[in-house]
Amino acid sequence: MMRTGREIRVRAYPAGSVSPDDFELVEVPVPRPGPGQVLVRNTWTSVDPGLRLRLRPDAPSGYFAAFPLGRAMDGIMTVGEVVESRAEGFAPGDVVWHAQGWREYAVVDAGAEQLSGLGTLTRLDLDECEPQWYLGPLGGMGLTAYAGLHVVDALRGGETVWVSAAAGAVGSLAVQIARLTGNRVVASAGTDEKVDWLRDSLGAEAFNYRVGNLGASLGGIAPDGIDVYFDSVGGPTSRLPCHT
Ligand SMILES: NC(=O)c1ccc[n+]([C@@H]2O[C@H](COP(=O)([O-])OP(=O)(O)OC[C@H]3O[C@@H](n4cnc5c(N)ncnc54)[C@H](OP(=O)(O)O)[C@@H]3O)[C@@H](O)[C@H]2O)c1
Repeated sequence: MMRTGREIRVRAYPAGSVSPDDFELVEVPVPRPGPGQVLVRNTWTSVDPGLRLRLRPDAPSGYFAAFPLGRAMDGIMTVGEVVESRAEGFAPGDVVWHAQGWREYAVVDAGAEQLSGLGTLTRLDLDECEPQWYLGPLGGMGLTAYAGLHVVDALRGGETVWVSAAAGAVGSLAVQIARLTGNRVVASAGTDEKVDWLRDSLGAEAFNYRVGNLGASLGGIAPDGIDVYFDSVGGPTSRLPCHT
């Protein structure tokens, strides 16, 4: 009997906030893998703010393609276990990552580049970590934080780094990477609970940007200014470093 699996599709592009009504859950037949393909049972998949940019008829220029309506959503980082393999280098039981998420089963072409290479089918090393870590610190979020600090900025250590949205997925990794590489980290977040966590658990000098004046709060913690701004938010917050 043919295997079936559920997948999530975009029913309509959201106007404003995203709602469950914008999606539909569909049961579909799962094809057998062809030569060079593997069948993966997905176990963890990613839900990122960046997906919102693709939930519209045309994604921004230079970004990943818009999700089509009424079809499986490709290009979402996902971790799973190989069920059947017709590709060299992959065997049933291997834990892999790929980019065909938001569905229970995916037939993946081994070697086909996905998400500019980040999502190409890859067997994961689980010696010292859990599979889902490859969707966070060891995946796109960690890469974004690391590349922003060390590739774009070439952080040298001994600098004062301000991270906005610092309690978020990328921001909290940027805080930790900057601290581990010997920098002083000033972190802003939107609730007192987040500020406490940033201070007590991550060792940052944190403040709530919603309380008082942002420039004054930042100036109080870093009166000599900041060397590096790791920007996760845009808008008025991001204009501040240009004026200080
Ligand atoms: N996740 C990824 O793999 C990835 C990859 C590349 C780029 N990015 C980009 O990195 C940014 C952060 O992503 P994320 O995954 O870390 O998101 P996240 O975990 O959802 O964190 C986002 C946080 O931003 C804060 N925020 C929202 N609006 C704000 C505003 N107007 N001013 C100040 N803070 C605001 C909120 O925290 P507060 O309560 O503290 O305000 C929110 O929780 C996004 O722009 C995303 O597109 C993410």
